[in-house]
Amino acid sequence: MTTGTIGVFDSGVGGLSVLHHIRRMLPYTRLIYVADSAHVPYGDKSAHYIEQRAIALSRFLVGQGADAIVIACNTATAAAAATLRRDFKCPIIGMEPAVKPAVAATKIGVVGVLATIGTLESARFAALLERYAGNVKIVTQGCPGLVEQVESGNLHGIRTRQLVERYTTPLLERGADTLILGCTHYPFLSNLIRDVAGEQVILIDTGEAVARHLQHRITAELPYRAETQATEVFFSSGDCDQARHTISALWGSTVEVQPLPFDFT
Ligand code: DGL
Repeated sequence: MTTGTIGVFDSGVGGLSVLHHIRRMLPYTRLIYVADSAHVPYGDKSAHYIEQRAIALSRFLVGQGADAIVIACNTATAAAAATLRRDFKCPIIGMEPAVKPAVAATKIGVVGVLATIGTLESARFAALLERYAGNVKIVTQGCPGLVEQVESGNLHGIRTRQLVERYTTPLLERGADTLILGCTHYPFLSNLIRDVAGEQVILIDTGEAVARHLQHRITAELPYRAETQATEVFFSSGDCDQARHTISALWGSTVEVQPLPFDFT
């Protein structure tokens, strides 16, 4: 039985798509989640800006007793994972678009990637393609505005559907039979994406693999702590009422959201 405290952060509520998998795989851990809502979206910010946010949020999580930190955000992983691994002693688990499994899954040999501009333009993403794309054609699409729709809890409205159509159609027209959900907000739109793209298209999300990787790391590296309470605690750097509303809807039960202390905002 693995116990301990896991700190998880994202630019907003997207990382909850990863938190669901973490809770399922690690039922006895204490989870602290920070939505950096005052700074969302990360996708159009500079790598330096995101790095500074990632350092502040990680300091906060360590101060709250986190034994390991999950960067539940592809954009922040690309910008800050190396720095966090250098500056913090605890395990830092990052995530990136699942190119390797998508390349294995495509039958036609064309994979589409939906992600933020920040992720697609990062050196880390270029290295990922270099390493795993092989002979498979990778077509990419930045998705400005989509994160904001999820942040406002608008998963099914007309505007959200229009954006999903705008971003998904070019990838399908270029022949993609497999789509990578390369941002943690997008799994909350997977029904809509499937509706637009068609049943036959394979959707690939990284959340479960990240939770499995976390489980292996902390089982191997963290001491057993009998006292850990299996709770979830939520913080936001933005409007806590709005965050409580959206987080409760996406988490599936009513939760309280505390303000992130001023020093870390
Ligand atoms: N959810 C994040 C990701 O996985 C960031 C989205 C954003 O804030 O732009 O990339």
